Amino acid sequence: MMIVRTAAELEAITARERRNGHSIGFVPTMGALHAGHISLVERAVADNAFTVVSVFVNPTQFNNPTDLATYPRDEEADIRLLARAGTDLVFMPSVEEVYPGGLEGRKRHEFALGSAAEVMEGKFRPGHFQGVAEVVSRLFELVRPDRAYFGEKDFQQIAVIRNMVASEGIKVDIVACPIKRADDGLALSSRNALLTPEQRAIAPEIHRTLAESVKYAADHSVRATHDTVVEQLDAVPGLEVEYFEIVDARTLQPVEEWDEAPWIVGCITVYCGNVRLIDNICYKQEPC
Ligand code: PAF
Repeated sequence: MMIVRTAAELEAITARERRNGHSIGFVPTMGALHAGHISLVERAVADNAFTVVSVFVNPTQFNNPTDLATYPRDEEADIRLLARAGTDLVFMPSVEEVYPGGLEGRKRHEFALGSAAEVMEGKFRPGHFQGVAEVVSRLFELVRPDRAYFGEKDFQQIAVIRNMVASEGIKVDIVACPIKRADDGLALSSRNALLTPEQRAIAPEIHRTLAESVKYAADHSVRATHDTVVEQLDAVPGLEVEYFEIVDARTLQPVEEWDEAPWIVGCITVYCGNVRLIDNICYKQEPC
């Protein structure tokens, strides 16, 4: 596995692969890798002749400086896991390689991300999706992948990236991959590493409550289902729901009736102590 730290070297290698007729799969990550990330890498390796993974904690998508400072990092472990998963190239750049001119001097661009970017994470983390669009579009420019792989835990992020790709006219297939969970149901996330043992013990309540709510939803309204999930989770000492929205999965806009859209998901963010965990559940539709 090649370890590349400069944009110029990454561009040269991916250009050579393209010239050789090799398809390129790309998995952007912020490191602290877990089995969820590795499942994306394995899918990319299976689908493409050459797989690139980036490990870059992108400062422009953090609206909270403490969140950025405490974001888990473990470069050596990431390299080991990526090599074992069959990655061809890992890109581990500095901020200056990704943003020529540095964070202050970089060229800025307002991305058209649509109304999907204005709700939920967009509302609670102002600027977050502009930062995600900025880094993902820059990485796409360097790698020029045929396919890029994202986990459905960040359900809204996938919709926003699809909008960004369409509005910027970028040619890439966005491949959405299923959430990976621990045996007790907790969605795998780099942030799980920040949980104390006590917090880790209560965190699976999030998925348990969401899964239970699918049965409840069969004979209750959207509003009642919403309120039950929020009440149950807020009643667990140590958990606090930031938002829970039941939305049309294609537009991310809230629904009021189950027959309002063919595909409906519930998206949630819960604070477990000061660790922000996100998850989602499908209420309706074939991809569930
Ligand atoms: O999902 C993430 O880890 C990040 O938002 C991404 C897509 C790697 C961009 O920094």
